[in-house]
Amino acid sequence: MITPLLSSCRQNCNFWQLSPAASVVERSVITWLGGLFGYDERAGGILTGGGSIATLNALTTALHARRPGFREQGLQTPAPRLVVYTSAEAHRCVDKAAALLGIGTDNVRHIPTDGRYRMRVEALEAAIRADRAAGREPFCVVATPGTVTSGSIDPIGDIADVCEREELWLHLDGAYGALFVLSERKREEFAACARADSIALDPHKLLFTPLEAGCLLVRDRGLLAKAYAFSASYLTVEEDPLMLDYMDYGPQLSRSFKALKVWSALRTFGVDAFRQAVDHTLDLARYMADLIEATPWLELMAPVSLTAVCFRIKGASEADHTAVLAELIGEGTALLGPAHLDGRRGMRACVTNYRTTRGDIELIVGRLSAIARRRGAVARTSDEFL
Ligand SMILES: Cc1ncc(COP(=O)(O)O)c(C=O)c1O
Repeated sequence: MITPLLSSCRQNCNFWQLSPAASVVERSVITWLGGLFGYDERAGGILTGGGSIATLNALTTALHARRPGFREQGLQTPAPRLVVYTSAEAHRCVDKAAALLGIGTDNVRHIPTDGRYRMRVEALEAAIRADRAAGREPFCVVATPGTVTSGSIDPIGDIADVCEREELWLHLDGAYGALFVLSERKREEFAACARADSIALDPHKLLFTPLEAGCLLVRDRGLLAKAYAFSASYLTVEEDPLMLDYMDYGPQLSRSFKALKVWSALRTFGVDAFRQAVDHTLDLARYMADLIEATPWLELMAPVSLTAVCFRIKGASEADHTAVLAELIGEGTALLGPAHLDGRRGMRACVTNYRTTRGDIELIVGRLSAIARRRGAVARTSDEFL
């Protein structure tokens, strides 16, 4: 419904005179989203194509903040090598951003995780010390509130302490997890998000919003403008204290009216509907975990922190898992993904759709069990269960 509407209104959200209403709507969406994380009026941000772009834009902003001459000189200076820290469970968009920005993936440290797949803070500190001792320049930590595989939540408060002490930019890759802040149950775990310099999140994952709608929030919006504002004589821009020119907040000039999708979902359904939907997905993930724990030949691979559920057929080989997953997908029941954790192979379900039901979850676990047993993946490895 909203996508054809968007296409027909064709607002170009670059400078406010071309799209004054859109500028106001985008600002109110950003203010609302920032408020969820405790950001104040100094904060700002921009709607993006997704979480990967939001993280790329965040690291760009961090780079300009760290190296004031970056706009003119790029990284073509004799200054020390910059280093980015993230966890071994981070999304590859962090490496991609480092590669695109000229930092280089050799300068991204993937800090080991603890038994719950969260970044180990003492290992982070040790890596920073080692890099400083070797003459490199630590500059940014990307923590993840909701990792892509298991949904683990890095210890954001402890990482923020390190970043404060070490004067490092803290970015949160919340593309999957940040919007679980909407759940009362997660509020405490997400309280330290307000201390991050920037947060990437994805309304197109949890806010009833069709693709594409990602978002970057930055605690000090002046830093966004420092990275992205360029003056151009061919743009007739008039200043207005109430209006923002979104071309100054990101790399795009022409851009679509993504904020309308988030704003209209919020206006139509209200924030309580979002909260209920998020809680519903958390409940379903817990339900799935309970079913798996009650099935003798299945086992969870990781604690269920949000709505990603990683599990495996006990003792089954990698080939068994691949075959069972392919059959489940092939018969059209559900599209689960592979999970790799600690060198072990399994499967991953992730509940993000508010229309998913307990019946869907039962169907998936039931079909997986049936397929695994028919293929012998269970019988070969766990005779005692049959
Ligand atoms: C933690 C994390 N970061 C980044 C992304 C990429 O987000 P997008 O597909 O919106 O670029 C995802 C996608 O699932 C994710 O889970």
